This record gives sequence, C-alpha cells and structure tokens, in this order.
Amino acid sequence: MKDVTVGVDGSETALAAVEWAADDAARRGAWLRIVHVVDRSPYELAASPELDAALSEVACRIMSGAEKTARARRPGLPTRLENIEGRPADVLRGLADESAGLVLGSRGMGRTAGSILGSVSMQVAGHSTGPVIIVPDRPRRRVGEIVVGLDDTADCHRPISYAFEKADLHGAEIRALHAWSLPTHSYAPAIDYDLNTVRAGQRAVATSRLARFRTRYPALPVSDDLRSAHPVEALVEASREADLVVVGAHGRGRADSIVMGSVSRRVLRHARCPIAVVRPCGRH
Ligand SMILES: Nc1ncnc2c1ncn2[C@@H]1O[C@H](COP(=O)(O)OP(=O)(O)O)[C@@H](O)[C@H]1O
Ligand SMILES: [Mg+2]
Repeated sequence: MKDVTVGVDGSETALAAVEWAADDAARRGAWLRIVHVVDRSPYELAASPELDAALSEVACRIMSGAEKTARARRPGLPTRLENIEGRPADVLRGLADESAGLVLGSRGMGRTAGSILGSVSMQVAGHSTGPVIIVPDRPRRRVGEIVVGLDDTADCHRPISYAFEKADLHGAEIRALHAWSLPTHSYAPAIDYDLNTVRAGQRAVATSRLARFRTRYPALPVSDDLRSAHPVEALVEASREADLVVVGAHGRGRADSIVMGSVSRRVLRHARCPIAVVRPCGRH
C-alpha cells in the first residue's frame, strides 16, 4: 500500500491540504507522509551554524503544526514526518511518483499579489507520473459527487480510474463530464453539421470510455453529463459544487508530454474545490 503524501510549508492552505490528505489516507488505510522540503539554495552564501539552527527550528514548527492538524482531523492515523533538503518542486515531483497521491495547497507562503496558483503547485501538478491533488481551501461539507472530465484521449484511462477508485472509497457518485464543441476557427470546413449525429457520436465515445469502469464498479452510481460547452467553463462550474474534480494532465496526442494541457492549467487556476491532476497514460 502506497502512502498518501502531503507537502507543507507553514501556510494555512497547506493545512487544508493536510486535512484532505488525512481523510484520503484514512479511507485507503494508508499512511500519511507529511513532508517539508527545506530549500537552502537562497542562503548558500550566508551558510553558518546559526542559520542551520534557525532553518531547522522553522522546519520543526511547520511539521508539528501539520501533525497537530492531521491528528485533530483523523486521530490514530499512522503518520510519518520528513524533512528533506532540496528544490521543493523537484523533491515533491519525485514523491508524487511513489505515492497514492501527492496533496498540495493551491497557495503557499510565497504568495505574490495577483497570482492564483502557487509556483510549486504549478511546477508539480501535471509533471509527475503519480496523481497530484491541489486543495484550495479547508474541505467543505461533502456533497457526495466526484466529477471526472472526459476528453477524447484514446486508450488512456488513468484519470477515470482514479475518479472511480475515489468515489468507491468515499461512497460518492461519479459525474462524467464531457464538454464538446464544434470547430469554430476560420479554416473549419464549411459543412452543415447534423447536431444530433455529432451528439450521438460524442455520447458513444463517452459510453465506451466508461464501460469497463462501470463493469468494475457495478454498484457505483454513474451519470453522463454530455454538453456543448467549453471544457474549462464546464469543469470550473462543476468545481463549485463537487467534492473533487479529476482532470487529465494533458489531452490528446501528448501522451508523453510533461507540459500540462491548457484546460487542466486553467481549471487549476479557477477551481473552487480540490482538483486531482492525473497523467492519462502510464504505469500506475
Ligand atoms: N518547501 C515546501 N515543502 C513542502 N511543501 C511545499 C513547499 N513549498 C510549497 N509546498 C506545498 O505547495 C503548496 C503551494 O505552495 P507554492 O506553490 O509554493 O505557493 P506560493 O507560490 O504561493 O508560495 C503549499 O500549500 C504546500 O502544500
Ligand atoms: Mg512557495
């Protein structure tokens, strides 16, 4: 059983991530691994024993705050604490690959005016093989719905698989959201589309992508939400209500890409609920 890992930096948002991660670990029967990455590079020129002592004291305070939050949320949850030295985004990316999920706050201590998503979160989500969950705030009251955004990435099912697994663990329902639109750019062929045919085609794609998961989780309530809309708008709107929105890290034709797709990136920036970013294809 892999650990659920959470990254903490002393911010309030990271504590929201701790609560989410503690719930997730408890449901999975996994350990919660609380990690603070100590980045010494900004202080390299001023290295001294006093600085070392000061940095470890800060790290201790951050870790014990996080541990207290985890205990309050899930008493008895097995937890390990780790201070690791390095570049936070690099270290956390590596940990995501070996975890059942890496949970981060959407913001951190380095909050700069006007930016919505923190720099570490941005560099980690979509850039690791393991699922990364970005938590914006303290969890709200649960509504029992997990939304998964479907695109037409053929044969790569990890986001759907992650969503079904989570819904099964939480007794939640799945809403499979497939937003589609007709090409509107100026070189789109000037044909009159039969909208009913297009809609039926889109539904067939969605149905076939979900089929194997419906078979694997026969008791799980699943609804299709096929709509003609922009995927970013549809997914951000879904995040106002849902407990979790699961998106692929990138879309079609970029199976090996380490660059996050524009839909996932924009959904992360505007999300109102935790977002799980999962690479569509891969070993996990
Ligand atoms: N040094 C770190 N060690 C562990 N986790 C971190 C570290 N820095 C940031 N994080 C995680 O990433 C989240 C977002 O922080 P970050 O992307 O750095 O935002 P900001 O740019 O606002 O500081 C934090 O809430 C925390 O979960
Ligand atoms: Mg930061």
